[in-house]
Amino acid sequence: MGERPINALNRPDAALERTLRPGLFEEFTGQTKVKERLGIAVAAARQRGEALDHVLLSGPPGLGKTTLANILARAMESQLRATSGPTIEKASDLAGLLTNLEQGDILFIDEIHRLQKTVEEYLYSAMEDFRIDIIIDQGPNARSVQLTIPRFTLVGATTRSGLLSAPLLTRFGIRERLDYYTAEQLSGIVARSAGLLDVGIDPDGALEIARRSRGTPRIANNLLRRVRDFAQVRGDGRITMDLADRALAMLEIDHNGLDEMDKRILEVVVVKFAGGPVGVNSMAVAVGEEPDTIEEVYEPYLIMEGYLKRTAQGRVATELAYRKLGIAPGQTPATSQGRLL
Ligand SMILES: Nc1ncnc2c1ncn2[C@@H]1O[C@H](COP(=O)(O)OP(=O)(O)OP(=O)(O)O)[C@@H](O)[C@H]1O
Ligand SMILES: [Mg+2]
Repeated sequence: MGERPINALNRPDAALERTLRPGLFEEFTGQTKVKERLGIAVAAARQRGEALDHVLLSGPPGLGKTTLANILARAMESQLRATSGPTIEKASDLAGLLTNLEQGDILFIDEIHRLQKTVEEYLYSAMEDFRIDIIIDQGPNARSVQLTIPRFTLVGATTRSGLLSAPLLTRFGIRERLDYYTAEQLSGIVARSAGLLDVGIDPDGALEIARRSRGTPRIANNLLRRVRDFAQVRGDGRITMDLADRALAMLEIDHNGLDEMDKRILEVVVVKFAGGPVGVNSMAVAVGEEPDTIEEVYEPYLIMEGYLKRTAQGRVATELAYRKLGIAPGQTPATSQGRLL
């Protein structure tokens, strides 16, 4: 199980993300319910003078999981220690992290679905009883002692919550899933980012970028930067709707924000499986992705935008999907094995 699936436009850029990342709940656009629930948990924990309950944030890449982890730490006035699933190789690495925590600290584990099984199991007692076993000494003197660790908050982030084991899942008192953003919300994010980057933008220009960002703030910010370059070289520096459209057309950004994998998925359902219904496993084999990734990263957007429908028999392509591929609905092209895209 491998690399996180991200297309070129959804690749994190550390410097840019530091500049544009909102630091407070009030600056974090959208995800209203998630924000409200987290805000209440923070306020209650602070009133009681306790550490926040463990929090699991899940959802597709670029929707704000890392951002929210940072916001939580700031709202709790806690230190954030960040690490990620694949970098914790052994239980002893985790023990080192845990014993260095202070009361109320937030331990952020990104890509928590990629923790080794042994490390994950080691985490259980830390999360639940704030105790860990460590082995001291070597050879015949080796013995295990139990250590109490400070009350900390684990914030886990994952794009693939389906891969988390039940024992780990249930140890998170707070579990929140982030959803794709609407074009209106994204245009607010684009306008805010443009302000921070000091680039002039019309509301229509922001909306044009927003519509083509696959519901994803990270993509919106990355596109904004590319459009800004275009505005500087080919325009007068200001981003209007027309300029944004020309810039995005030059970059071959889909009008509806679909990326390569989205289109491959639609093509497979429409062409190879005659519009469906098709099961997620067959779909996954045909596009060369893992079923969980299809289900958790790609499909939600295609369903939200009305290209696919989920039925009891499997996934079905809608008329919109046919139109997107330029095929008359209900008609299966003769070249059913051929690639259209
Ligand atoms: N709600 C939001 N409001 C404003 N900007 C946001 C919001 N969510 C995300 N962003 C912007 O998008 C960028 C990417 O978000 P973030 O790094 O938090 O995503 P992520 O969910 O952790 O992604 P990954 O799964 O790839 O780690 C942030 O740097 C921030 O600038
Ligand atoms: Mg992240």
